[in-house]
Amino acid sequence: MKSNYICNCKHYDFFNKNFLYWENRVVTSDEESIIKYIEKKNFKKKLKILHIGIGNSYAYEKLCLNHTITGITLSKGEIKKAHSYNDENYIVYYCDKISINFREIFSKPKFDIIIDNNLKSYSCCQKSFEYMFENFVNVLDKDGIIISNKNGMNWVKKLKPKISFNLKNFFHYKMREVDGNIKNIFSMDEAIKMSNKFSLKLSLDNDVVIFSK
Ligand SMILES: C[S@@+](CC[C@H](N)C(=O)[O-])C[C@H]1O[C@@H](n2cnc3c(N)ncnc32)[C@H](O)[C@@H]1O
Repeated sequence: MKSNYICNCKHYDFFNKNFLYWENRVVTSDEESIIKYIEKKNFKKKLKILHIGIGNSYAYEKLCLNHTITGITLSKGEIKKAHSYNDENYIVYYCDKISINFREIFSKPKFDIIIDNNLKSYSCCQKSFEYMFENFVNVLDKDGIIISNKNGMNWVKKLKPKISFNLKNFFHYKMREVDGNIKNIFSMDEAIKMSNKFSLKLSLDNDVVIFSK
């Protein structure tokens, strides 16, 4: 599936090969603190959670007993790991969060929570970032929240394709992180501006950042 964008920036197409990325790496402390926040809130109803950037599926493992998790990623290696749980309720899509495809896959407001600890980190430009943020707000149900992390919001990387070799996988494709644009640091000032633009309430719980509808 080809990804389409509203901007003219250059985007790598990771769809046609089995790109490995975070499936066997340790969950980031940023995502861990988001999960702890959700566990601490002890939500009484079964929530529909959209996880942006599933990594090693840690969020699924921690939250699947009480909630329904849908995920997106650019890595087929991460999708393979997600499929290994054999859970028909854990649906994971190959989808670039800043692409038009996101809007096509998720067309209705149905999620109670969106987890994205690297909200702006991988954006190509401001226009596509704001388009993504608007799409996130549009798929949130009434009273829905976007949860991020202050440290993750300061992290900026770009992903590039790389051919790698090891004895387990021989020659294989990997995503390589390179330094991204420092304009992708999502400061609290910008978070306030985005909250005002989309009429969201912004709050903090230690390093966890919450945008509420
Ligand atoms: C640094 S890893 C973090 C994984 C996991 N969230 C964690 O914190 O441990 C970034 C994740 O975001 C995904 N990702 C990066 N850019 C993306 C994009 N434009 N659209 C969707 N997912 C993306 C990667 O595939 C990977 O799952």
